Amino acid sequence: MNLTAKNNAWAGHPGAMMERNNVISEVRMNMKRISRLFGLAALMMLFAMPIFGQGGLWVAPPDSKEYKPTVAKNAESLKMGKDVYMKYCMLCHGEKGDGKGPSGASLPIPPADFTDKKRMAQSEGELAWKIVTGRGMMPAWEPVLSEPEIWSVIHFIKDFAK
Ligand code: HEC
Repeated sequence: MNLTAKNNAWAGHPGAMMERNNVISEVRMNMKRISRLFGLAALMMLFAMPIFGQGGLWVAPPDSKEYKPTVAKNAESLKMGKDVYMKYCMLCHGEKGDGKGPSGASLPIPPADFTDKKRMAQSEGELAWKIVTGRGMMPAWEPVLSEPEIWSVIHFIKDFAK
């Protein structure tokens, strides 16, 4: 018997000792579980921040209204716009442009609904700025699409709100 055991109020009561040890290991396990939970929460916040941190209305800078389409809206550009849309945009924004594409539903911020007349009343220039710049899960299309492709897809998506 050592000194600590002698001075320990629990000493001499093997049942009590075992219970104490159980309590200690239980506390340790809970601490581990809690710190794991906190770690998980912190990790989740880290990932969510760039997405949720940018929520709310997406407003293009006022001078983007001055960008004017360099491609006329006609059958040819609408066809090009449709091709671009089906290839790059439909998965999120949906075949009907309603934001309900097969990959759109799982996103924390839903893809924009192009059938919304109020939303689509914005100028071509503002839409172009957003398509070029991107935000959160909306990719920046600058490196992927040419300028004629961008104006063509804008002509095409504007018609969802007709
Ligand atoms: C990976 C999914 C995804 C793809 C692919 C995608 N978008 Fe988006 N788009 C989004 C999301 C999500 C938003 C909403 C972003 C926000 O408000 O923060 C958005 C918003 C937009 C907006 C802004 C509308 C507004 O509210 O003013 C435009 C314009 C747009 N997308 C056009 C396109 C075009 C054109 C393509 C294809 C070239 C495309 N998107 C492809 C997810 C996507």
